[in-house]
This record gives sequence, structure tokens and C-alpha cells, in this order.
Amino acid sequence: MTTYGSFPGTRPRRLRTTPTMRRMVAETRLHPADLILPAFVREGVSEPVPIEAMPGVVQHTRDSLKKAAAEAVAAGVSGIMLFGVPEESKKDAVGTAGTDPDGILQVALRDVRAEVGDDLLVMSDLCLDETTDHGHCGVLDEHGSVDNDATLERYAEMAQVQADAGAHVVGPSGMMDGQIGVIRDALDQIGREDVAILAYTVKYASAFYGPFREAVGSSLKGDRKTYQQDPANVRDALRELALDLEEGADMVMVKPAGPYLDILARVADEANVPVAAYQISGEYSMIEAAAEKGWIDRDRAILESLTGIRRAGARNILTYWATEVAQKLGRQ
Ligand code: PBG
Repeated sequence: MTTYGSFPGTRPRRLRTTPTMRRMVAETRLHPADLILPAFVREGVSEPVPIEAMPGVVQHTRDSLKKAAAEAVAAGVSGIMLFGVPEESKKDAVGTAGTDPDGILQVALRDVRAEVGDDLLVMSDLCLDETTDHGHCGVLDEHGSVDNDATLERYAEMAQVQADAGAHVVGPSGMMDGQIGVIRDALDQIGREDVAILAYTVKYASAFYGPFREAVGSSLKGDRKTYQQDPANVRDALRELALDLEEGADMVMVKPAGPYLDILARVADEANVPVAAYQISGEYSMIEAAAEKGWIDRDRAILESLTGIRRAGARNILTYWATEVAQKLGRQ
């Protein structure tokens, strides 16, 4: 045999020889408890409504949502993040449905809590975009711009109403300045020191939210670039992290996940609280669409995408595949 110097002197391939070897040395593992299922519930429907841009995901009825929550528990998923889709006629400029105790999200929170008790963490999206007729995450001033401080008052009330309805965790996703501090105060004022805040700390103005807009029937025209972050920036993310921690965030989230793994790794390095990442609608739909065309192996691509997010530093992952993946992990 011809030899070329002393290469290879070292053989890393030895640790990749068999599935058992690879499993033993794997540095990153996915576990059902890592996962949180985002779910949509739509007011006034008697059958689940498929979301065309997210094959396999539906807008639930109250009943089908309860079943989905029970399935998530059985699979070992840790939490469910609820989004309410009110009837079109109930949307208005200030998102009244978001603070109405009988608004769809509050009704769903009560339903799911009654179904799962404390076996699943019941989380609520705390934002106005699902309930406003203009589709923005806040209320507008007379010039049509999102009014930060007026929006905070709405968020404070939403937090209280969601806690009353049974949320273990609230998830403020509107990117208003000061939202975590205001929500913490509002909860404490009604004696709900027990309700945790999962802050959407780092949230970029992303094109990958596209399919979600269909999922919640959003009527937004324009974009959210005056409150969500510019994809070009890192410092802005670290600043938001420092502020949210100071204001009392119990957990922090990076969103989207896949295109922002560098940000996730930085946040995971710096945060002294658990870090979550949200694998959003567009990340889901891209894999489903490519798999449907036969261009990628669906199951492997799903697991790889989630492993990458864990490896970058996320303790928890919000993913529309949560229940399916948890079921598969359970069987391994
Ligand atoms: C805002 C909110 C959005 C998502 C979660 N919360 C939409 C947005 O900010 O534009 C997106 C989630 C997804 O795309 O899967 N309430």
C-alpha cells in the first residue's frame, strides 16, 4: 500500500461506525419534554378547518382542541401554546375579544385546563394581532402607527384575563417596549405571582411567518417592521434579552428558529433562564412542501431541524410537529 506521510493519524470515523455507537456519543438528544405544541382554535366552527399553507395543521374546534391537548399529554409533550381565532365580526380596532372573558382564547384556555389540569403547561399567546381588524399587534394612534404605551395597557388587561382563564404561562409576542415589566406587574397586582412569562424576547420581522397569517385569519396589510427586529441585527437581540430579564421574564424565546441559530446560541450563552425557540409556520411548511414533492425525506428532515435547534442551545422548542415527534421519540 502506498503511504502518504503518516495520514490518517487519527480516525474520527471509529465513533460513527454503528447506530449504537452513534447513539452513545450523541451530544444532543431530543426528548418529548423539550417540546411545546402551538395550536389554533377558531370560534364558531363545528369541524376543524385545514390550514392550506400548513398541511397537517388545522384551526381546531373547541372539541378537537381538547383532543389534541390530551394527545399531547399522552405523548409526553410539556406544553401547548394557544392562539385564538375570533369570528371576523368580533374583531375591532382595539382587539376587544382579547380581553373579553368569553373571547375564544379565554374559552379555549378554560376548556384545555379542564381537560389537562396540570399535566400539560397551558400557555397563551399574548398579542393583539388575532383580535384586531387591522391585524397589527397593538392599537394604532391617530396617524395609523402602533402606539406602544396604549398597547401596554391592553396587554396588562389581557394578561389578567388569560391568567383568570387558566393560563399557567403567558407568552407576550407583540414586541412592545416594556411589555414584560407591565405584564409582570399586572399579574402580581391580581395576586398571580404564580403565572410565568415566556417572553418572545427576540422576534424578527420574518417572511417565514407567512403561513401563520392564514392560520389566524390575519387581515394585516403592510408589515411589522416598526416593532419586530431587523434580521440583519445581533446587538438588538442581546439588548432585548437584557431588558426582558431585567423586567422579569421567566423564560426567553428566539423566533424564528432555523434561520437564527447564531442568535439562539448567543442568547443561550448569555441568559440565566431557560431558553426556548419557535420553529415557525414557514419553517414547518417548507419541509412539508419539499417532502410532498418527494425532494427530501420528511421524517429525517424534521428530526434534523429540531436537533439543530437543540444543539444551538434551545432547552425547549415550539413546533407544530410536537406531538408527532414526541410519539416517535417515545417509541425509539
Ligand atoms: C403574533 C405571533 C406571530 C406568530 C406567533 N405569534 C405572527 C407574527 O408576529 O407575525 C408566528 C408563528 C408562526 O409563524 O408559526 N401573535
